[in-house]
Amino acid sequence: MHRRLVAPMLLAFSLLAQGAHAQAALIPQPDRIEVGHGSFALNRSVRIVAPTDRRAQEIAAFLRDGIREDSGIALRIGAATRQPHIELRIDPSVQGEEAYRLTVAPQRVEIAAADDRGLFWGVQTLRQLLPIGHGRTLSIPAVRIDDAPRYPWRGVMLDAARHFIPVALVKQQIDLFSRYKLNVLHWHLTDDQGWRIAIRKYPKLTSVGAWRTEADGSRSGGFYTQQDIRDIVEYARQRNVMVVPEIEMPGHASAAVAAYPSLSCPKQPIAVPATWGVFTDIYCAGDEATFAFLHDVLDEVAELFPAPYIHIGADEVPKQQWAQSASSQQRMHDQRLAGVDGLQSWFVQRIQRDLEARGKTLVGWDEILEGGADRNAVVEMWRGDAEAAKALANGNRLIVAGPFYLDTPIEELTTQDIYRTNPFASPAFAGHQDQVLGAEAPLWSEYVTPRNLEAMLYPRVIALAERLWNPDVHDYADFQRRLRTQYPWLDAQHIAYGPEDRDLVDYKLDFNAPHHRWRVRAARGFDDIALHYTVDGSEPTAQSPTFGDVLDHYVPATLKVAPFRHGVPYLPSQAFQAVDNKALGKPLTYLTAPDPHYAGTATQLVDGVIGGDNFNDGLWVGWRGNDLDATIDLKPATPFHSIQMRFLQQSGSWALLPRRVTYAVSDDGKTWRTLQSTPIAVDPMDLRAMIRTVRFDAPTPVTARYLRVTAQNFGMLPPGHEGAGKPAHLFTDEILVQ
Ligand code: ACM
Repeated sequence: MHRRLVAPMLLAFSLLAQGAHAQAALIPQPDRIEVGHGSFALNRSVRIVAPTDRRAQEIAAFLRDGIREDSGIALRIGAATRQPHIELRIDPSVQGEEAYRLTVAPQRVEIAAADDRGLFWGVQTLRQLLPIGHGRTLSIPAVRIDDAPRYPWRGVMLDAARHFIPVALVKQQIDLFSRYKLNVLHWHLTDDQGWRIAIRKYPKLTSVGAWRTEADGSRSGGFYTQQDIRDIVEYARQRNVMVVPEIEMPGHASAAVAAYPSLSCPKQPIAVPATWGVFTDIYCAGDEATFAFLHDVLDEVAELFPAPYIHIGADEVPKQQWAQSASSQQRMHDQRLAGVDGLQSWFVQRIQRDLEARGKTLVGWDEILEGGADRNAVVEMWRGDAEAAKALANGNRLIVAGPFYLDTPIEELTTQDIYRTNPFASPAFAGHQDQVLGAEAPLWSEYVTPRNLEAMLYPRVIALAERLWNPDVHDYADFQRRLRTQYPWLDAQHIAYGPEDRDLVDYKLDFNAPHHRWRVRAARGFDDIALHYTVDGSEPTAQSPTFGDVLDHYVPATLKVAPFRHGVPYLPSQAFQAVDNKALGKPLTYLTAPDPHYAGTATQLVDGVIGGDNFNDGLWVGWRGNDLDATIDLKPATPFHSIQMRFLQQSGSWALLPRRVTYAVSDDGKTWRTLQSTPIAVDPMDLRAMIRTVRFDAPTPVTARYLRVTAQNFGMLPPGHEGAGKPAHLFTDEILVQ
């Protein structure tokens, strides 16, 4: 649906109405808009005039191509003329970094800026002023806009490591960031689960480190060739977007260690992990070979990325391998370092000197403050204002990311939440404004794939863009009105943006005991999401049957559901597996309530629904530190021959198997007879994802009224574990009685 503004009608309106149009169309809202008289008629006889230097000519071509794409009007770039024209002009009197002045008058449009960055933003504003739709002549109401951003760092972080993002999809995001005047793409290129940037000197980083084997045996991954990187960096440069690469060190390095085991202190072969969390395989700080490797990698990275910044991560570093390594102990001794935190600080500062020798500034997550940071480093705050306060007091420049984690479900961090967040409000920022570079929104991709990436980004990123460009505007209703004028354009570009304040789809699978059937209820973020499903285990397609808000589903089977919008799949499919059994729908009581974050429904363990491979999927029930002790009233006494439960370990996320699982029965709920008590040898340092089934098989059927299951929590995470001294989680998904 294109909305077309027709020139003569607009001219008949008051000047105020024209001003309202200009303001309604623009995001971010400019500093100052003054409405003029009349309008500029844009048609194919209009010429674009620009300075002759390469960048100005490139910006003129970008404007020409944008107008042709959006309006179908093909303009020429040419020499100065008395005919109606669009002029780009360098004018040192326009004040401010990235600032521009855009004047639309009946005879001419002028974009003036002190430098080419401002010139380019003026062009983006002019493109947003074009009435939506194609025509031979389009009318742009007269206006004068004076505009400049408040913060110089307005960014988004894309995590290409957990799920690879194809080149074309990265470029599409750069187009959108640039449209809304975001100027930094922070590109998270390496992590435990994948190394995504080809390095000539170390080919195994991508031949081994870019690929992992998923739980179902499939291979997944991908990487960018150096030519892909150059293309993307160049594409971004043309659009005023700086690409800052992140090469994680010393932690989040499992993929590199999988490729070259000698990089870690134990030097043991490992696989590229296929689960999420924090992993202990890190670069060995004691070995000179580690620094030679990182120096070589940074050589190639520095050559590929012209940005003056290189991000080295440095977050979430479990240091037990350092503590246990002779070379690292030697290093701590030689450098007189206070423990492994001091070694981390020494590591970061050594890399910082390496980067500074190339003219690059180090950026790191706020852990670089631990053990002391050099004040020339830029700190990216993610853990909170206390970290920001430390960085500012230490004299560091700062980027704030903490309030803008876009991997947060939309319902919990809405477009309006982002719009209303002032990330620099804490008293810690008082008197330190000159150290604040700006902010960015990280999109971690554990649960983000190319299918839902845009729904997680937009429209929330658009709210962030306005917040950082123009913090003086606060009227969310007005922003929302302007945002809604963007949707037709985003639709025309086939952007799979998401809802403003709801998740794309939230499922609930309930067992309906009286009717002995399961029911899926789906809350859809857009009314026009179609839910397609299968019951034979195959992937739903746009041809599979659909349901609306409710699907009644009688037969125990594997149900798979996937949302589509306009025929396009929006998310990976969600599987629901239901199993008929004798505990189904029976009264269940807990001695200790589960952790409210992982409680599910009161009858989650007796609804017949099996959990997926993610403890976060709402189907697993979890206890933090506590034991599971649950009693089922089988009402009346019921014969059965087996009991089966599953427990999950993902130690990187602090979820451990129980130490012991016990099944007992009773006829009165008071005296219990133990059927089976199973000890489990739990290795908290085993970071692989695993699910352990604990099954009791009776030689002859047991008849009982009450069944009690207990599972003993592992307890405190041991020294050497990332969560040492904190309680482990215990997870189970279902009690199946046959
Ligand atoms: C982070 O979220 N680990 C920076």
